[in-house]
Amino acid sequence: MNDSRETSSPKVIGIRRLKEPMPTPLKTRVFTVANQKGGVGKTTTAVNIAAALAMGGLKVLVIDLDPQGNACTALGIDREELAGMYEVLVKDLPLSEVITKVAGFPYLECAPADVDLAGAEINMVGFVSRESRLKLALEKFLAEREAAGARIDYVIIDCPPSLGLLTINALTAAEEVMVPIQCEYYSLEGLTLLLKTLQQVQQMLNQKVRITTIVLTMFDSRTRLANDVANTVRQHFPNELIDIPIPRAVRISEAPSFNQTVMTYDASSPGAIAYMTVAREIARRGSGDASKQINNLNNGAHTA
Ligand SMILES: Nc1ncnc2c1ncn2[C@@H]1O[C@H](COP(=O)(O)OP(=O)(O)O)[C@@H](O)[C@H]1O
Ligand SMILES: [Mg+2]
Repeated sequence: MNDSRETSSPKVIGIRRLKEPMPTPLKTRVFTVANQKGGVGKTTTAVNIAAALAMGGLKVLVIDLDPQGNACTALGIDREELAGMYEVLVKDLPLSEVITKVAGFPYLECAPADVDLAGAEINMVGFVSRESRLKLALEKFLAEREAAGARIDYVIIDCPPSLGLLTINALTAAEEVMVPIQCEYYSLEGLTLLLKTLQQVQQMLNQKVRITTIVLTMFDSRTRLANDVANTVRQHFPNELIDIPIPRAVRISEAPSFNQTVMTYDASSPGAIAYMTVAREIARRGSGDASKQINNLNNGAHTA
C-alpha cells in the first residue's frame, strides 16, 4: 500500500495538442485571475484556460499564488518537495528556479505555491516596495526567456480569495485582470470591492492594469437567476465579457481529484469544450489579427 493515489488516478500520458493552433499574442500577456470571493471558479478557470492555451500551441506559465495550492493540485504538481512562490517573494529566489513543467502539455509550466506561502504576506510587510516583488521577479524571468528565444505567450496568476498583499502583488505584476463570476446570489456584490482595490493599484502601483476579461462560471442555463446575472454582466461589461458561459459540470469538478485539468481528464465533455472555446476567444482577442479587425471596424473598412 505505498501510494493509493497512484492506482486511483490515471496519469496523463502523451502530449495534448490541437490540430488548429491558436494565434500568438503580439507580446506576452500577463493575466491575474482575481475575485476575492472563494469558490467562484478562479482556480478552475486559471488552470483550464492555461491548459487550453497550451494545447493551442502557446507557451504558458501558471503562477500559483494561493497558499492552498489548488492550481498545483489540478496540474499534477506535488508541491511538498518544491521551492515555490514564497522563496521567490520573500527570499529573492529567481522565478526560473522554482518553475516546473506540467506533464501532458507541449509547453505548460507552473510556479508552485509552496507550503510556506501562507506566511508570505506577513513576511513581506517590512520590505520596501513589497507590492512589486512579483512584478520584478516576473519581468526579469520574462526578459531572460525572451533573450533565450523562448518567449512566454501567456502568464496566468491564480490568486487567493482575498485582496491582501498576494493579490496586490498579482495586480501589480499584470496588465490584464480576468474575473470569474459565478452566476449565483451576491456574485456581483464583491465586484465593487475588487474594482475599488484595482483603482488604488492603478493610482499607486500599476497604471496599465485593467479588467479585460470576464468569464461566467458554473452556469446553469435552466435557472432564472443565472440568466439574470449573465444579463447584468452583459450590460455592464459588454466588451470584457467572453459570452461563452462555462456550464456547471461534474467532469470539471472531478478533474482535480485526479490531479488533472478537465482538458486532459475529459477533453470532449461540455465543460472542457466550453473552456477551450473561451481560451480560443481570449487568444483571438489578443492576436494582431483581432486588433486589425477592430481598427478596420473603427475606420469603416468593413463597409468597403
Ligand atoms: N463549471 C463548474 N462545474 C462544476 N464545478 C465547478 C465548476 N467550476 C468550479 N467548480 C468547483 O467549484 C469549486 C470552487 O472552484 P474553484 O475554482 O476552486 O474556486 P476558487 O478558486 O475561486 O476558490 C471547486 O470544487 C471546483 O471543482
Ligand atoms: Mg482557488
